[in-house]
Amino acid sequence: MLDTAPRDSLLEVNNIEVIYNHVILVLKGVSLSVPKGGITALLGGNGAGKTTTLKAISNLLASERGEVTKGSIVYRGEAIVDLNPAALVRKGVIQVMEGRHCFEHLTVEENLLTGAYTRRDGAAAIRRDLEMVYEYFPRLKERRKSQAGYTSGGEQQMVAMGRALMSRPETILLDEPSMGLAPQLVEQIFEIVKAVNEGEGVTFLLAEQNTNVALRYAHYGYILENGRVVMDGPAAQLRENPDVKEFYLGMSDEGRKSFRDVRSYRRRKRWLA
Ligand SMILES: Nc1ncnc2c1ncn2[C@@H]1O[C@H](COP(=O)(O)OP(=O)(O)OP(=O)(O)O)[C@@H](O)[C@H]1O
Ligand SMILES: [Mg+2]
Repeated sequence: MLDTAPRDSLLEVNNIEVIYNHVILVLKGVSLSVPKGGITALLGGNGAGKTTTLKAISNLLASERGEVTKGSIVYRGEAIVDLNPAALVRKGVIQVMEGRHCFEHLTVEENLLTGAYTRRDGAAAIRRDLEMVYEYFPRLKERRKSQAGYTSGGEQQMVAMGRALMSRPETILLDEPSMGLAPQLVEQIFEIVKAVNEGEGVTFLLAEQNTNVALRYAHYGYILENGRVVMDGPAAQLRENPDVKEFYLGMSDEGRKSFRDVRSYRRRKRWLA
């Protein structure tokens, strides 16, 4: 296979087009490159195509009547468009879906253990990794006997991430980890992403509407609008880009208003908590 990817690139998405229901064209030629050991952010507003891109990579589109109709997706130099999600997990790629999806009737610990289902390296190794997950997520250790359905949104996000880690992945596709979480908890989740990236060498491709936090933790970002990549670059560079500031970070002069909104939102959250 022709492999023109840079040496350290793990995952290459080349000019893909995705169509839902045979007619709805959603991705219109998206290309990205995910380097090994990095945190890459896929940014953009509602309906930009972030989730569709992640699902195209992990082959979860079929169940939604979606299809990659053009382009290619290559992992470690090998086309992966025809691999089912379980085969992809064995290759080292796992997706943490938007909205967490815990097994509500299982305990936190049972949920984590379901993440090890593709492994063949024995109970002792799985036990060790459970302890590794608890080191990254001390909160989950405290709650390990609780039924997952009764844990908070933040804890469920942690369960979903911890379960993914239990498959010993090389790459995690993380969809909207900040969704519905209070700002402080969002920060905590991203701190854990960073710690796992640095401590375990796990590569991340994460989809986020929260540009501000994502660009503080990611190394590189792609901005999607209406199914196309409109801008990409090193995270530090995107953070300084005037358009990004204005449209995504709410930091332009008139954007000060939206900053105030953020503060009052925080106050509201305190009352709601
Ligand atoms: N199963 C589906 N059938 C038809 N259209 C869909 C389907 N899933 C998503 N779409 C459409 O595809 C577009 C991209 O959706 P997608 O979920 O990928 O966006 P997103 O960037 O993840 O947005 P959000 O930030 O709201 O999660 C949207 O216009 C959406 O309505
Ligand atoms: Mg989405």
